[in-house]
Amino acid sequence: MIGLHNSVIRSTGCSVPSRVVPNEWFTNYVDTSDEWIRSRTGIRERRFVGPGESSATLGVTAAKLALESSDLHPEDIDLIICATVTPENMCPQNAAVIHAALGCRPIPAFDLSAACTGFLYAMSIADQFLKTGAARHVLIVGSDVLSRTLDFTDRNSCILFGDGAGAAILSASPQRERGVHSVKIYADGGPRELIHVPGLVTPQPPADQKQHEHIRLNGREVFKFAVRRMIELTTDAILECRLAGRSIDLLIPHQVNQRIIDAALESTGFPSDRVMVNLEKYGNTSAASVPIALDEALKTGRAKPGDTLLLVAFGGGLTWGSAIVTL
Ligand code: UT7
Repeated sequence: MIGLHNSVIRSTGCSVPSRVVPNEWFTNYVDTSDEWIRSRTGIRERRFVGPGESSATLGVTAAKLALESSDLHPEDIDLIICATVTPENMCPQNAAVIHAALGCRPIPAFDLSAACTGFLYAMSIADQFLKTGAARHVLIVGSDVLSRTLDFTDRNSCILFGDGAGAAILSASPQRERGVHSVKIYADGGPRELIHVPGLVTPQPPADQKQHEHIRLNGREVFKFAVRRMIELTTDAILECRLAGRSIDLLIPHQVNQRIIDAALESTGFPSDRVMVNLEKYGNTSAASVPIALDEALKTGRAKPGDTLLLVAFGGGLTWGSAIVTL
């Protein structure tokens, strides 16, 4: 590491649609109740995009806010990565829309697909560009609009998701105590069908149009996978921090289900008063979940300069990952 830079989180931003959808709304479509959704997931409401909104428009707003909160100009950005499984178009990529909206000079700008772990995949790539000196400032965005893929006759899935975008600017810094200490990302394609979001280009015309159009998930199996991975990632990070003489001030997990978080906390013994949870307001916003919670933690003072954060995510692919970062 001698001679290499460290990458620090310089600023963040987030954007959610203005339309609030409370749990009660779903009783118009499926046999469910506010009580069931709250007690089984912790979610009270979520945001859905309206006409003219997309993962690209939300991503642009989040990116602009992150840029405004930094002391940088658009021409300072060296790389843009947008994590999304619901891009506005397959081409041009969301990152190109964000690039144009900010008015950046010609730089690399691309999307990546790693579902709910996408923001940590983007952070891993940004970290490597920054540590090797290939970039000085990287804009990473997680943005998804899974409401556009929901089947409002499937109560197992339609109540879980919301739309949103979160962004962060990471900068190279000579400081060794601050910044990204480690980012770990994983995938296992074996059980990939547990979460399926259909694409626009398929190998053959779908036999069942409904199967083709909507997100499908095996909630019960994904629940078990999520608890297992969150326990592994948290245990691993606690050990890594202990060996480095650090403690974790705030855990920011993927916001999907309070029961997943509670089960992992119980198993690892991590204190619940050091966990950032905002899923009651937004539901599962996929790649946007961790950066929205990160932005809220910073804006509300839950996370302060000098704090060490553990970010943890898991989702479709299947993918999972974590990051240990000192602010
Ligand atoms: O980010 C990765 C993507 N995230 C996920 O895939 C979510 C992970 N999974 C979960 O959060 C939970 O598994 C769910 C919230 C999806 C389901 O909770 P659960 O406690 O695992 O319920 P279950 O699937 O074991 O189903 C229990 C019962 C079933 O009825 P029967 O078969 O026992 O009669 C379901 O049909 O609850 C029923 N149910 C519902 N009832 C009312 C499922 N969804 C609903 C609903 N309202 N919305």
